[in-house]
Amino acid sequence: MKYLKNYLYIENININKIAKKYGTPSYLYSQSKLNSNILNFKKTFNKINPLICFSIKSNNNLQILKIIKKNNLGADVVSKGELMIALKAGISPNKIVFSGVGKTSEEIKFAINKNILLINAESESEIRTIERIGKAKKKIVNIGLRLNPNIDAQTNSKISTGRKIDKFGVDKDTFLKIINKYNSSRFLKIKCLSVHIGSQIINFKPYIKMVNEIDKILSRVNHKFEYIDFGGGMGISYSNNDKKLDYKKYLKSIEEFLNKHDVKIILEPGRSIVGNIGILLTQVIYIKRTRNRNFIILDAAMNDLMRPALYGSYHRIIPTKISKKMINKIHDFVGPICETSDQFLSVKKYQTISENDFLAICDVGAYGKVLASNYNLRSLPTEFLIYKSKVRLASKRQRLENII
Ligand code: LLP
Repeated sequence: MKYLKNYLYIENININKIAKKYGTPSYLYSQSKLNSNILNFKKTFNKINPLICFSIKSNNNLQILKIIKKNNLGADVVSKGELMIALKAGISPNKIVFSGVGKTSEEIKFAINKNILLINAESESEIRTIERIGKAKKKIVNIGLRLNPNIDAQTNSKISTGRKIDKFGVDKDTFLKIINKYNSSRFLKIKCLSVHIGSQIINFKPYIKMVNEIDKILSRVNHKFEYIDFGGGMGISYSNNDKKLDYKKYLKSIEEFLNKHDVKIILEPGRSIVGNIGILLTQVIYIKRTRNRNFIILDAAMNDLMRPALYGSYHRIIPTKISKKMINKIHDFVGPICETSDQFLSVKKYQTISENDFLAICDVGAYGKVLASNYNLRSLPTEFLIYKSKVRLASKRQRLENII
C-alpha cells in the first residue's frame, strides 16, 4: 500500500476509484503482498524445511487459497467445510492437517475418506472415536495428539490456547498415558505431537518454552513421532508501536531441537501470511459532531469486521485521499449497528474528512471476512483480489433477497 499524489494505492490500483466503481464495504487483498509474505515465511524457516500448513480459519477465500496452493503450501483445517474448500483449492490431502477439540464422527469419517496427512486429536474420547471409525473402515488412520503444555503465550487471553485452563489438547500426564495406551492400536498410527499455544504472539519466549517442553516430553515417552507440529500464532504489527516477533530466536530453538530429534516440523501460520494483505474499504455515511467528539459513522460495522468489538483489537484507519489539514478533536470511527461495541477506533486527531469520503481499515486479511456475520440483517461484505493493474472479484456481495 502506498500513496501516490495523495491517493491510496494497492499495487497499481487507485482505491478511491475502486470504492466508487464497486461500492463498500469491501475487502480488498493484494496478491503480490500475499506472494511475498509466503516467500518471506519460507525463507525464514528454510533451514528447518518445514511443511507449512496455512491455517484456513484466518482466511478461507477460494481465490486466496488457490494462490496458497500455487505456492505449494498445505493447509490446517478445523471443520469439514474448511477441508472441503482446501481440497477444492487443489491442496493435496497429504499436506492437510485437521485440528479442533470437537470433530464430529461425520467430520472424522470425511477426513479419513480423503486420506489427509493427519487428524490432530485433542482428547482420549476423540481418539476412541477415530479408532472406532478406522476399525469399521478397516483402515489405519494417521493421527497426531495435541499437547497442552501449560504455557502462557502472553497474548490476548481470548486467543491464548496453551494454558491448563484452556480447552485445547491434553496435559503432559494424560499425553503420556494416551500414547502408551494407543501405541499398539491396529487402526491408529500416532505420527505427530501437535501444539498451538495461541495467536498474535509477539514475545518469542513462550515459543522457546514450548519447544523445550516438547523436548522434555519426548525424552519421557517411549514412542517415535514422525512429525512435530508447532502450530501457528506468529504475531504481526498492527501499529508502528507494536513489537516484532523475533523469528531468529524461535528458529534457533527449533534448530537445536532438531539436533536432538529426527522429526519433520509442521508449522500452521495464518495471520502472518494473510494479516497485512487486506483492507476493509468503507464509506463515511454521516459525521455527527458533538462538542467533545466527532462520530464518524461508517457503512462498515462490527458484523463486517468483528476484531475490535470482540478482542478490543486495534486496526489503523487511513484515508483513501490525503488532505493536509488536521482536526484536533476526538474522532470515533463507528459502524451503524445498534451496539456501543460497534466501534472500530478512537483517535485524538484526524485529517479533515467529509460525508461520503472513503476510508481503509487496515490489516484485516486475517480473521476479517471469515468472522463476518449477518447481524442486524446486513449482507456479508464482498471481496476483491488485486494483482498489479487487475481487480478480480473474489466473492460476490450477498443479496439481501437471498438471505431473506
Ligand atoms: N493452528 C491452530 C491449531 C489454531 O487454532 C490457529 C488459530 C492457527 C494454527 C493459526 O494461528 P495464527 O498463525 O493465525 O495466529 N480470531 C482471532 C484469532 C483466533 C486464532 C485461532 N486459532 C483473532 O482475530 O485474533
